[in-house]
Amino acid sequence: MRRAASLEAPPSTTGQPPLASPHRAAGAAEALARIPVITPGRAAGTPVPPETDAQWQALTADVLSCTKCGLHSTRTQGVFGVGNRRAEWLIIGEAPGAEEDRRGEPFVGRAGQLLNAMLAAIGLPREQVFIANVLKSRPPGNRDPKPDEVAACLPYLMRQIALLQPRLMLAVGRIAAQNLLATDTPLGRLRGQVHSFGELNTPLIVTYHPAYLLRTPADKRKAWEDLKFARSTFQRLASQEE
Ligand code: URA
Repeated sequence: MRRAASLEAPPSTTGQPPLASPHRAAGAAEALARIPVITPGRAAGTPVPPETDAQWQALTADVLSCTKCGLHSTRTQGVFGVGNRRAEWLIIGEAPGAEEDRRGEPFVGRAGQLLNAMLAAIGLPREQVFIANVLKSRPPGNRDPKPDEVAACLPYLMRQIALLQPRLMLAVGRIAAQNLLATDTPLGRLRGQVHSFGELNTPLIVTYHPAYLLRTPADKRKAWEDLKFARSTFQRLASQEE
């Protein structure tokens, strides 16, 4: 079993340096091409049904052409999300940063490298989960999202959740956790519990944002506890459904 120490040295999941090959601004087709259609998790080898495929395409196009809030005028591109469309784990962050805005993919900067290590520590390759943000456009200077921006963007995340129907959601950081749970309870008090999200009562667990952990490495120990809690919760839920 991997230990918390592995969070100190994030592995590259691609074998490439994370910033080595910048993507061009992406259209819907390019963004979709980054989302594998076959799952190694829920139903190995099962293609996504055609109607769902069309829904993913429509949703991707909607996100990438969205002008519902002012962020569309300062972003380079919308950042739809990335990963396995049959994923059982949905990881939700706050909003794209500068590197994500440039490359069109969530969590590809330093925080993304640590997120990859956090997932790997519980046996989850980045490619096996789906990763999205509350906001699909970068707030200038990485400021906190404004309530009207969250209100405009959350319906896209809700559509992603409806299509994925994840078994477990992991909210990383205060902004994601508080907005998803519609609370201003401090993150520290949201940890260590299985929350219920939305009409499907999807189990949701909260942990620290990897960018925070880069600034506050002493809290990596607590993040490791959260990850182990998430893993054991997932295993319990999976065994109940078998
Ligand atoms: N931080 C986030 O919350 N999301 C990203 O995609 C990158 C950094």
